[in-house]
Amino acid sequence: MCLDENTIKVLSYVFLILGFLLLLFLFFYFFYNKKKKKKLGYYLLVFIFIILIFYFRGEIMNIDICKSDKKANNVTTTKAMPASNSDNYAGKTSKGYIIEKKDGAYFIDDYLIINKSYALSKDFIPENTYEKIADEICTTCIDKEAYEKWLNMKNDAAAINLNIYIASGYRSFEYQKGLYEKNVNKDGDFANKYSAKAGHSEHQSGLAIDLNSVDASFAATDEGKWVNENAYLYGFIIRYPKEKGQITGYKCEPWHLRYVGLDLAEKLYNDGKWITMEEYFGINSKYK
Ligand code: DAL
Ligand code: ZN
Repeated sequence: MCLDENTIKVLSYVFLILGFLLLLFLFFYFFYNKKKKKKLGYYLLVFIFIILIFYFRGEIMNIDICKSDKKANNVTTTKAMPASNSDNYAGKTSKGYIIEKKDGAYFIDDYLIINKSYALSKDFIPENTYEKIADEICTTCIDKEAYEKWLNMKNDAAAINLNIYIASGYRSFEYQKGLYEKNVNKDGDFANKYSAKAGHSEHQSGLAIDLNSVDASFAATDEGKWVNENAYLYGFIIRYPKEKGQITGYKCEPWHLRYVGLDLAEKLYNDGKWITMEEYFGINSKYK
């Protein structure tokens, strides 16, 4: 059985409100009814009813979201929809999304997912990039669709005298391995707050770019402020927003953009109160 995303949301809220109203009713009735001893069986019945409501709410939230209701736009090579068959099934998120594994990468709702819990395989190399990958690092070897959106963004920024440029784009598994080791040698365990282990970096996917100074000070620059407010209009998200370090596993990186397409980017932008991919899909970001 499957339901569309909105029906699941509405039903879960209806059950939640109903459960709390009954709880409130039980609470006030129990404390203000003088004949309470005579009606113990009645309270018990309401209590069982409340338990049942919360149980059914849990069941509703576990129902699958119908595939036909999922967005199939914004398809790029690295985010391409995997065939929905049981071979790809890799689990379910706490929000009921199906996790699929295909060609050495994890997808949720057709979006490529990379964090501390979900890694790319050593052999994963993005296809369909703007320029062909011929080196361990490359600032133009970004997913074609993402790079074209990036060029629009860069041009629009330039039109208002803002200079944004890619400081780091594609990084191979091996390159990330060396980078991470270098960072651990320098900063020990703290490196895990800003550097991903090989396989766990979005830079390997060709869907991530680091802009300009790659420093916390970027957020306060005119460029940083403009990027924070406008990147979603081009399909990019601030992947590691401030105050979300416990969720993403990384401290704020105002310079690290991830391409997800217009639809999801607008949802995650959330009028400037960025939502992380982890929160949106209901997943963790923790090394096993
Ligand atoms: N700085 C991000 C987390 C990376 O290493 O991919
Ligand atoms: Zn980055």
